[in-house]
Amino acid sequence: MQNQTPLFTKLVEHANRNPIQFHIPAHKKGFGMPNEFSEFIGPNALSIDLINIAPLDDLHSPKGVIKEAQELAARAYGADHTYFSVHGTSGAIMTMVMSAVGPGEKILVPRNVHKSVLSAIIFSGAHPVFMHPEIDPEIGIAHGVPLDEVRKVLDEHPDAKALLLINPTYFGVSADLKSIVDLAHERGVPVLVDEAHGVLFSFHEDLPLSAMQAGADMAATSVHKLGGSMTQSSVLNVREGLISPEHVQSVLSMLHTTSTSYLLLASLDVARKNLAIHGHELISKTLELAHDARRRINAIDGLYCFGEEILKTSATFAHDPLKINVTVSNLGLTGWEVEKILRNDFNIEVEMSDLYNILCIITFGDTQETIDALVHALEAIAKDYRREVLERKQVKYPSMPLLALSPRDAFYNKQTEIIPLAEAAGRIIAEFIMVYPPGIPIVMPGEVVTHDNIDYIVEHVKEGLPVQGPDDPNIEFVKVLK
Ligand SMILES: Cc1ncc(COP(=O)(O)O)c(C=O)c1O
Repeated sequence: MQNQTPLFTKLVEHANRNPIQFHIPAHKKGFGMPNEFSEFIGPNALSIDLINIAPLDDLHSPKGVIKEAQELAARAYGADHTYFSVHGTSGAIMTMVMSAVGPGEKILVPRNVHKSVLSAIIFSGAHPVFMHPEIDPEIGIAHGVPLDEVRKVLDEHPDAKALLLINPTYFGVSADLKSIVDLAHERGVPVLVDEAHGVLFSFHEDLPLSAMQAGADMAATSVHKLGGSMTQSSVLNVREGLISPEHVQSVLSMLHTTSTSYLLLASLDVARKNLAIHGHELISKTLELAHDARRRINAIDGLYCFGEEILKTSATFAHDPLKINVTVSNLGLTGWEVEKILRNDFNIEVEMSDLYNILCIITFGDTQETIDALVHALEAIAKDYRREVLERKQVKYPSMPLLALSPRDAFYNKQTEIIPLAEAAGRIIAEFIMVYPPGIPIVMPGEVVTHDNIDYIVEHVKEGLPVQGPDDPNIEFVKVLK
């Protein structure tokens, strides 16, 4: 069964029939668009850039090939139901949150959540209760939430309607998901998982448990990030019991475009087949490359690429070795500087960097040559760019401000004024401010801005990092409640 691709196969058949099209998109197989684009993209891709005409089914009410493709995906990902998203994992996360909680209902979330979780909290009117993730002061990153913190927050909020977790973090670290799921289920609380970086977990025993394997109720699982489908395509996996699949389908439909891209949908179908049939073998090979990269990077004086040795607590319970996080601070350089050197001198682009680290992902698309290129570049940087390591800067993680008002009430409040960021301490903010990537909030609507938040934002803007959120793109002014 898993070697079939019902949706992709149907699209190719349809394109081969070469029907005369009187429906959108206007480019009609590429003929109605400038050659400079159609020739670059190619006729095959344009021939399946189609729309929800009857033979091709409809994501909003799947009954044909999309339904079949989703059912195969559910079996592959170990879910009862899988829903395709062409609105990224953000769309899957928003669907997940908005189908679980409504106005005034409590949802327990780690502070280091992606902005899509917080957007969903605003749209739904839910009340977030933040949980503290474990912070690693050496590497300067946040990990999972410890089991005891989850237990404490569940005890304090017995009326919580959902618990959201991240599996794994951007940096590839998973908490003890199974124990947390069991704890939440004892209290009848459904567990929603942001699995943007966990699509491979269902397919290899040397990777952490997937959300579905751990018994979670929903998981927004990004196939495009690590599973090989096209950018913006993702899935929402659902387990029946505490969640109504019919309601999930309705919410997904409310949040999705009616003009769903069949290129993206078809790529989900093919990526699922690849993962189900060849995933284990491909992951084994990719793990070998990643182990080789980690070992060689750790042999370079001044660099540290963490691995399983950091797994000590319930918040650092399992690790995805395909995430290569290189701590560069002992070279006297910041991660941002190393990112720029890699770009300018070596034509290498990394996934992300911060004050201390660069993050690289190793995937099926890598080869020994790409690994060698990265390792050689890092060896050269360690030799040629090394500076005296001055006093080690304190690892900064933004403090968690007080939530004075529901995020939705603050966001939609009309009684606001624009003031300089520098004067915002003590005021309730009406907008988000976050660094993207990874898109984790520094402040969100309804929170009381602290001096520490302002310093953190100013430092990031000064370093030229992608701080986003406020209406003012220069982040000099912010909107606060009067
Ligand atoms: C942890 C996490 N969750 C969710 C997302 C959102 O995924 P997407 O970009 O597919 O919308 C990201 C993207 O960076 C992420 O890192």
